[in-house]
Amino acid sequence: MEALRWQGNALCLLDQTLLPARVKWNTYRDYRPVVEDIRRLAVRGAPLIGVAAAYAYALAGLEFHGREDFVLRMDEAKTALWNSRPTAVNLFWALERMEAKRRAVGDDPAALIGEAEDIRRENVAMNEAIGAFGAEVVKAGSRILTHCNAGALATDGIGTALGVIRAAHAQGKVEMVYADETRPLLQGSRLTAYELAADGIPVTVIADNMAASLMGLGKIDLAVVGCDRMAANGDFANKIGTYSVAVNCRYHGVPFYVALPTSSIDMGLADGTGIPIEQRDGRELSFLGETQTAPLEAAVYNPAFDVTPNGLVTGIITEKGVLYPPFSTALAALFPG
Ligand code: MRU
Repeated sequence: MEALRWQGNALCLLDQTLLPARVKWNTYRDYRPVVEDIRRLAVRGAPLIGVAAAYAYALAGLEFHGREDFVLRMDEAKTALWNSRPTAVNLFWALERMEAKRRAVGDDPAALIGEAEDIRRENVAMNEAIGAFGAEVVKAGSRILTHCNAGALATDGIGTALGVIRAAHAQGKVEMVYADETRPLLQGSRLTAYELAADGIPVTVIADNMAASLMGLGKIDLAVVGCDRMAANGDFANKIGTYSVAVNCRYHGVPFYVALPTSSIDMGLADGTGIPIEQRDGRELSFLGETQTAPLEAAVYNPAFDVTPNGLVTGIITEKGVLYPPFSTALAALFPG
C-alpha cells in the first residue's frame, strides 16, 4: 500500500483523513500546503512525516532555484515544515539532513530531490529489517495487539509495528491482529484495519477500552506498537493510549514491544520527560465528524501522544536488531561517539 508518490517534480500524498471510505490523492508543487496537510494529519505517522517533509523541502528547492534570496527562502521553508508537528523526531531528523545537503551542494534542486529519494529508500529498507528482526519474537499462533497505525500508511514501507506483523504473518505465525480503534482520530480502525484487511491479514477492531478485558481472557499473546520519539533511556512517545496498553500488558504478563527505525531515537533527550507532546484541538474529542458528543461548556484535554516509561517495555525492535534492558546501554551502543 502506498501513501506517497513523487511524479514529474510533484509530490502526491494519499489523504489519510478520508480513509477508509474514500481514496483520494492530493498533488503538491508548493511546500506550503504540505505543511498544512502534515498539521491536519492528511499525511501522518512519524517516518512518513519525515519523508514528506524532505520532499516538501525539495519542492521549495525547485521553487526558489536561481533566486538571489534562495538561502533565505529555503530557511523559511524549513522553519514552516519544522513547526508543523512537534513530537515525531523524524521530521526534524529529515529536515536537518535536507538542510545539510543544501549547504553541501548549494542551489541544486536535483540534489535535494535525490536526498529525499535516499531518505525514502533507506526508510523502506529499515522497515524490512525491523520486520525481519521483529518476526523472530513472534511465536506461532500469536494473537497480537497493536495501537494506532504504524504501517505502510505511516512509513511508506511495510511499516514498523505492522512490518513486524506482516513479516510474522508471512511466516504463518499470526492467528489474529487486534487493532485498537485509537480514539480520538481512529487511526487503528480507519487505517490499520484497512491496510491489514487489504493484505489478507486477519484483523479484529476493538475499542481502546476493550484491550484489558481481552488480555484478562488470555486472548492477547503480544503487543507491538510504533514510536514517534524515543529518549536515550528507552522512554518513548507514541499515540495517546499506548501507555495504557503497556500498563495492561505488564499487569497481564503480556510481552510489550516497540518497533522503530533508529531515526526515531533522540539521543539528545535523557528521558521521556523532555519529549514535547502535541496538544490538539478539543473539537477532535467533542465532535464525531459533525455530531457533537460533549457539551461545549466542558473543557477538553486532547494530547496526541503519551510517554511510555522504558520499564514497561519488553524489547525495542530496530533495523539493527532487537534491544533488551538495560536500554540505556543498548541504545548507547547504537550511537557510538
Ligand atoms: O498522530 P499520528 O497519526 O501521526 O500518530 C502516529 C503514531 O503515533 C504512530 O504510532 C507512530 O508515528 C509510529 S509510525 C511508524
